[in-house]
Amino acid sequence: MSFTRITAAEAAALIKHGDNIGLSGFTPAGTAKAVTAELAKKAHAEHEAGREFQVGIFTGASTGQSCDGVMANEHAIRYRAPYTTNPDFRKHVNAGEFAYNDIHLGMMAQDLRYGFLGDVDWAIIEVCAIEDDGKVYLTAAGGISPTIARLAKKGIILELNAFHSPKSIGIHDVYEPLDPPCRKPIPIEKVTDRIGTPYLQIDPKKVVGVVECNLPDEARSFKGEDPVTDKIGENVAHFLMGEVKRGIIPPEFLPFQSGVGTTANAILYALGSNPEVPQMQIYTEVLQNAVVDLMFEEKVKCASTCSLTVTNDKLLSIYDNIDFFKDKLVLRQSEISNNAEVIRRLGLIAINTAIEVDLYGHANSTQICGTKMMNGIGGSGDFERNAFLSIFTCPSVAKGGMISSIVPFCSHIDHTEHDVNVIVTEQGVADLRGKSPIERAHAIIENCAHPDYRELLRDYLKIAEVGQTHHKLSAAFAMHDTFLREGDMHLTNWAEYVK
Ligand code: COA
Repeated sequence: MSFTRITAAEAAALIKHGDNIGLSGFTPAGTAKAVTAELAKKAHAEHEAGREFQVGIFTGASTGQSCDGVMANEHAIRYRAPYTTNPDFRKHVNAGEFAYNDIHLGMMAQDLRYGFLGDVDWAIIEVCAIEDDGKVYLTAAGGISPTIARLAKKGIILELNAFHSPKSIGIHDVYEPLDPPCRKPIPIEKVTDRIGTPYLQIDPKKVVGVVECNLPDEARSFKGEDPVTDKIGENVAHFLMGEVKRGIIPPEFLPFQSGVGTTANAILYALGSNPEVPQMQIYTEVLQNAVVDLMFEEKVKCASTCSLTVTNDKLLSIYDNIDFFKDKLVLRQSEISNNAEVIRRLGLIAINTAIEVDLYGHANSTQICGTKMMNGIGGSGDFERNAFLSIFTCPSVAKGGMISSIVPFCSHIDHTEHDVNVIVTEQGVADLRGKSPIERAHAIIENCAHPDYRELLRDYLKIAEVGQTHHKLSAAFAMHDTFLREGDMHLTNWAEYVK
């Protein structure tokens, strides 16, 4: 069966107001992008004509400007889940313009299959090659593609993107678990174990058209490392080597998961350049530039990921050196890369970045001052809850020192004190394992808080009511409140908050 070629505009014309679309990809990597760009134009025209036009969007993780950005700017989104990093999208969400649901990335495909999020009408899947019997080859991410392709009620649109080389065929391990009560164990015992197929089998009868395009991925490049992120990386490496020396981590190390963003990228570079750290294995959801460089340098032996969230030059260097990477790199679906069963079996060292952490070890990865979304939880919850060792890192201050990342009480909590083992800032390391809440508070203030904020945080403990957790609720958000009113968290007098 050979598939009909259609333009992106013809594909967009098929999608109706109120439909739900599911996209391939995970982060801008591998995300279908030709049709959504046209869908935003269609929304613009419909709105100009005085007609409603909004769709629901289900993705693997964040997307790029050609989906989240243009669709948000055209008010073409009714509902969107899960993660996002797009600044335009963020602006509209924080203005309360549409429903955004920040789901653990490892749960997204399953939530769709369980019917928790409504129907999937259309699956739009980016591929680098198509066979007539419906075998298709995904591009730079595993995402939730098998699930959306199977669930799509109205049809599947394939974006055949020539930017992605068919040389990458073989890099994916496509696997979709059964649902309870029939689910089987997921038999991954080593980082590079393969349990599925190199292709995604779709029902050829569901394909309504193939959109040919040549569009680069839209992954961001990060700010480079700086002395603060370098020091955080050094502190992480030093702490982990200490754990090896005292026999907690085996000498050959355990596989790493490392989070998303500038800090996470810098930490991996720091680990890679530390001569004491042995050759690493990575089991993660997002593989950033640092890991590609470290694989070339053979500091990283192998990696399993859901996406290649790298700059386009790095992506092309993977395609150009595919023989080097093929037995060292596996791309999986997000519900496998982030699967609790596999994460616990492999015993990961999870290192993710928080926006703020509080005195008792709760971490906020998502919201500024309790209300404004930054990016979303991503897979950090999947990994931190289930890892062998759960580490959160962050610079001790933000916005030139006007914000302390260590606060009395997080203004939003994504990861509870029960899921966080260790906090690392450029100031040092607070090992929370085995400590009571008040012991944790002292460890975090003395080891992780910026010296400019330590006295203030010590004073908070003096006014806090004693309990299993020490708090003065009327003052717990006083530092945030002071920042919102004065642009600076340096509160001068706790007394005004003590009622
Ligand atoms: N209060 C207010 N703003 C803060 C802040 C705080 N406590 N801490 C950081 N910020 C701001 C920074 O100033 C920066 O703002 P800017 O974009 O205006 O410069 C922004 O948040 C990002 O911080 P940055 O230091 O550049 O961090 P990063 O690139 O390392 O990203 C997260 C940090 C938390 C946003 C990012 O790791 C994330 O999205 N995490 C959630 C998803 C996740 O962990 N996935 C894990 C599996 S891959």
